[in-house]
Amino acid sequence: MKRSLWGVLAVAVLIAGVMIGSSFAAGNYWDGWQKTIRLDIFPECGVNVRGVGGDDILQATVDTYCGVKPGGYQGYVNPKVMDIYKKKGKSYPDGKVAVLEFKKIGAAFTTDIKGGKPVYDVVSIADGKSIASKEPNHPLNPETCAKCHAGFGGTCKGFVCGNR
Ligand code: HEC
Repeated sequence: MKRSLWGVLAVAVLIAGVMIGSSFAAGNYWDGWQKTIRLDIFPECGVNVRGVGGDDILQATVDTYCGVKPGGYQGYVNPKVMDIYKKKGKSYPDGKVAVLEFKKIGAAFTTDIKGGKPVYDVVSIADGKSIASKEPNHPLNPETCAKCHAGFGGTCKGFVCGNR
């Protein structure tokens, strides 16, 4: 009896291992996309990035996310809409547009368009599931993304900010 239980466990461990392996191999939908903006080290709270060439919106971004300690980031844009991005276009077709990947914290900010409107989310890099917050004013609440991306005096065109 005992022996067969170990057998079942061994098979279960094997299957789990294969599943974890394959989910890593599958990667993320933005892996083959074109790379855009990049920041290797996210500034600490209190750092003035205006002094080193940053603009007001970048300062606001640092002030909003420094507490999360997100590490550096890499931006990606869907090659299908790269032309619109380069021309700072104001309207994107429905679909996936851009991703900002924060490897250190295993999270990615995603921007999609649905019915002509931007949809913001925060997903886990490991499994693609949403880890966005529902807490009002939380930095990872999609409403916070919208306030900056669709607000901020129209600094960002077409709801993306990396091409401003
Ligand atoms: C306070 C302003 C602000 C907030 C809040 C904010 N962003 Fe951004 N976002 C920016 C700026 C500025 C950039 C470009 C950074 C740069 O130039 O290096 C950017 C870049 C991006 C990009 C990459 C676009 C590209 O050009 O490659 C995505 C995707 C993105 N943000 C999604 C989000 C999501 C999702 C949220 C909410 C969880 C969010 N952002 C919250 C200001 C903000």
